[in-house]
Amino acid sequence: MAFLAHTMISQLLLALVFLRAGLGSGQGFGFTFNGFRPVDLDLDGIAEITPNGLLRLTNESDQSTSHACYPHPITFKNWTEGSVFSFCTTFVFALISENPNRGHGIAFLAAPQMGFPGSLPSQYLGLFNATSNGNTTNHVFAIELDTIESTEFQDINNNHVGIDINSLVSAHAAPAGYYPDGGAGKFENLTLISGRPMQVWVDYDGTEKRINVTLAPFNAARPSIPLLSLSLDLSPIVKKTMFVGFSSSTGSFTSSHYILGWSFQMNGQLEGLALSELPNLPQIGKKPTSKLLTIAVPIICLFSISVLILGLVSYIRRKRKFAEILEDWELKYGPHRFKYKDLYIATRGFGDQGLLGAGGFGRVYRGVLPTSNTEVAVKRISHDSRQGMREFVAEIVSIGHLRHRNLVALLGYCRRKGELFLVYDYMPNGSLDKYLFNQPKVTLNWTQRFRVIKGVASGLLYLHEGWDQVVIHRDIKASNILLDAELNGRLADFGLARLYDHGIDPQSTQVMGTLGYLAPEHTRTSKATKTTDVFSFGAFLLEMATGRRPIEPRGTQDVILVDWVFSYWSRGREILEARDPNLGEDFVAEEVELALMLGLVCSHSVPGARPTMRQAVQYLEADLPMQDLSSSLISFHSSRVRFAHQEAFDDFVRSQPCSTDKAFSVSSSIADSLLFSER
Ligand SMILES: *[C@@H]1O[C@H](CO)[C@@H](O)[C@H](O)[C@H]1NC(C)=O
Ligand SMILES: *[C@@H]1O[C@H](CO)[C@@H](O)[C@H](O)[C@H]1NC(C)=O
Ligand SMILES: *[C@@H]1O[C@H](CO)[C@@H](O)[C@H](O)[C@H]1NC(C)=O
Ligand SMILES: *[C@@H]1O[C@H](CO)[C@@H](O)[C@H](O)[C@H]1NC(C)=O
Ligand SMILES: *[C@@H]1O[C@H](CO)[C@@H](O)[C@H](O)[C@H]1NC(C)=O
Ligand SMILES: *[C@@H]1O[C@H](CO)[C@@H](O)[C@H](O)[C@H]1NC(C)=O
Repeated sequence: MAFLAHTMISQLLLALVFLRAGLGSGQGFGFTFNGFRPVDLDLDGIAEITPNGLLRLTNESDQSTSHACYPHPITFKNWTEGSVFSFCTTFVFALISENPNRGHGIAFLAAPQMGFPGSLPSQYLGLFNATSNGNTTNHVFAIELDTIESTEFQDINNNHVGIDINSLVSAHAAPAGYYPDGGAGKFENLTLISGRPMQVWVDYDGTEKRINVTLAPFNAARPSIPLLSLSLDLSPIVKKTMFVGFSSSTGSFTSSHYILGWSFQMNGQLEGLALSELPNLPQIGKKPTSKLLTIAVPIICLFSISVLILGLVSYIRRKRKFAEILEDWELKYGPHRFKYKDLYIATRGFGDQGLLGAGGFGRVYRGVLPTSNTEVAVKRISHDSRQGMREFVAEIVSIGHLRHRNLVALLGYCRRKGELFLVYDYMPNGSLDKYLFNQPKVTLNWTQRFRVIKGVASGLLYLHEGWDQVVIHRDIKASNILLDAELNGRLADFGLARLYDHGIDPQSTQVMGTLGYLAPEHTRTSKATKTTDVFSFGAFLLEMATGRRPIEPRGTQDVILVDWVFSYWSRGREILEARDPNLGEDFVAEEVELALMLGLVCSHSVPGARPTMRQAVQYLEADLPMQDLSSSLISFHSSRVRFAHQEAFDDFVRSQPCSTDKAFSVSSSIADSLLFSER
């Protein structure tokens, strides 16, 4: 019974021993660690597993050794004296040193036991000591990745890979590097201590009895040519079961030695490492980065914030700069409504270089519309009242519908706070007055003048009769007549006198027409009619024929153009002599005479005695005989005298009660009572 129990126990113990020795026995034992957990390995010395799964063999402790072994023995032979099986292993390592002095490196090893009692640090790599080094009883097979040249072990340099059998004097060694595939056998150096991860493959062919060691940069394909290839039978060295793992050491100086992943295969196909799953190395040079962060990040932030603020400010400024007033009721005027931004761009910000002139209601600028590239004239009018704006805009838009070859087309408008813009066709030759008065540089010959006269007459007729509602111009005078590219006369500013009724603040004192062009009944009643326009047209005709202004100061008395021309006629002199001397001899006498006489008749003080614009056009086109004018002129004289003496003075004084503080004088001259002037 006791014997039985004894044999049973010894059987059990034997089984346990076999179990222990048998791990990985037979075919295809292997393991793969893509990163480590503490339980995977048996650690000693200063080795440790970092929280993110790195195996750190050394740290900043000097003169230290460390070992990390797979915690179970692995069977290398079928029987004790038999031959060693084929095996292969691969691992990724990184040797990091922040200074030129460093630790000694690492070794992959296979040894009969886990611990290395009595082993030394520094050049002994934690494997041997001075007495045990080289002793065949060690039964140690190792691949060293050596970063220090130890002359006592005949190291080839301070950056080499060696195959060590029981001794630190390598059986075979080569400078670290590799033969990249497709590199035509060219050797590429690698620096082990570079801090960059690299991969090592160790293969032992049990049949060929050959050890191959291959090195490559991380993520590079495994080179087909090994760095080291040594023909060697491991059978005498390797015991039946062995432990595999890593050894490392520091000397007087230190470096951090890491293993990122490890795969081992006995007698079979090696399972490769999943490189992307390996834990990350700690950042090297972390301090400079953080310095960069602490300085650069706030600067970048500050910069972006100020850029943002600047952008916002300029956006708001721009928005405010181009702000305009657009009310719901204006939406139906869409096509007639211009964007302030477009006008601003067109006139280059209403700069002085584009200023065409300052007229009765505001300044006029030349511009080129950005969208259509057409030339326009933009009239900028300031107004402070929004009252009546709606009616006024409606009127502008309806005026905008007027199209005649002798009218300057009003294209549209735009409104801003306190400002109104009217957009007109651009007339390249400017206003007529600069060709007539003040010793003009260019004068118009008679043919050109007569064409302008006929054009203006036809334009005015269109305003009076050509449209479904009567438009009174109210301010016909040479400076309100523009010349287009073909020197056709075109009426400008028609209908604008009505601005006055809509709270527009005129910048000129000459609002309700202009002195010298105002019909006498107009000054009395302030009521503009078709006949008051005809009166102004008469003054314009006289201007064109004589080259003189309606009222010209001369000494203490003003010369009244109507009187002056009339005097030529009444004194039986040739009326032609009143013509503009600038005309020279190149004129058609009948036409000049017609203009002068029609001018006088239109200036008739009795509104009913003036022709209509239709009749005026007929005279000019010679559809009515000129003799009719002569007979009208006979009544002209008497009517003026009677009108002047009986009505004009009283009416004038009655109609201007507020003006008595101003020094108005009404001269005894006939016409002076009609065409007053301010002294
Ligand atoms: C190195 O690691 C060991 C083991 O974890 C620890 O005891 C030692 O203090 C470490 N040395 C340094 C300098 O960090
Ligand atoms: C080891 O021995 C077993 C049984 O004796 C045999 O089946 C196996 O093929 C051997 N393995 C090798 C690699 O020789
Ligand atoms: C050298 O190492 C061996 C075993 O590895 C050990 O027995 C011996 O005591 C060591 N010698 C010294 C001097 O430490
Ligand atoms: C090798 O080591 C063994 C045991 O540690 C020892 O008996 C032997 O003398 C050593 N041989 C040499 C040459 O040092
Ligand atoms: C590789 O290193 C060796 C020794 O340091 C040097 O002689 C050789 O020129 C290097 N080769 C290349 C390609 O850098
Ligand atoms: C070792 O390298 C040699 C030469 O490149 C090659 O012929 C052999 O097959 C390799 N052996 C192993 C086990 O990789």
